[in-house]
Amino acid sequence: MSARRRAPAPAPKVRTAEHLATVASLEQLPPEGPPEVAFLGRSNVGKSSLLNRLVGRRQLARTSATPGKTRQILFYRLERVGRPELRLADLPGYGYARVSKGERQAWQRLVEGYLGERPALRLAVLLQDLRRDASEDETLLLAWLAERGVPWLVAITKCDKLKPMRRAARVRELREQLGLSPAQGVPTSSETGAGIAAQWDAIDARLAEDAAS
Ligand code: GTP
Ligand code: MG
Repeated sequence: MSARRRAPAPAPKVRTAEHLATVASLEQLPPEGPPEVAFLGRSNVGKSSLLNRLVGRRQLARTSATPGKTRQILFYRLERVGRPELRLADLPGYGYARVSKGERQAWQRLVEGYLGERPALRLAVLLQDLRRDASEDETLLLAWLAERGVPWLVAITKCDKLKPMRRAARVRELREQLGLSPAQGVPTSSETGAGIAAQWDAIDARLAEDAAS
């Protein structure tokens, strides 16, 4: 490969990014409006960090080194220059061992209720940590979304954690495990910003495809 790579296109400029609602139960969901993009994945995988990077605001969504903190769905309103208005939904993470059965059931009710019955939801972005193997949780979730006709993409997170050769090999492995095309599984780093513009392009392309069908 040539040593001189073309610089990636910049991420779209954000005009407004603001908190819209915090939702602990389905009754609290805000009235439907602009298309919604939901971010979901294992606890601590980097959902809130990716959302912050995508909107270019360090502290919009709360991030934490302690997994399993967020129990609600947080909605953000987003206006970008030259691209359609969106809402982003930061979903509570799953797979955190130290939660009670009751909490797990509450998670399931809220997340499945939202993902399965929300006409404004146009895309689910499932996050997968570069260093972990995809588990049944991820494969079942993708199948569940496909069954319900919810378009999805995968964001491979924390790509700064491995050196380039190892990273490229892991990206290939994960795409294979989850059956992803390169456009369906974009490597990202919320630490360095790598892959963020590509992630936006993948999101916008998927939304446009869905709108056209
Ligand atoms: P929950 O809300 O608890 O489910 O977690 P989350 O998926 O929102 O993860 P969050 O964004 O809070 O990140 C969890 C931890 O991973 C934090 O310590 C982040 O700083 C770290 N982290 C997230 N993304 C990256 C990344 O791209 N690179 C590195 N090195 N660390 C990251
Ligand atoms: Mg979070």
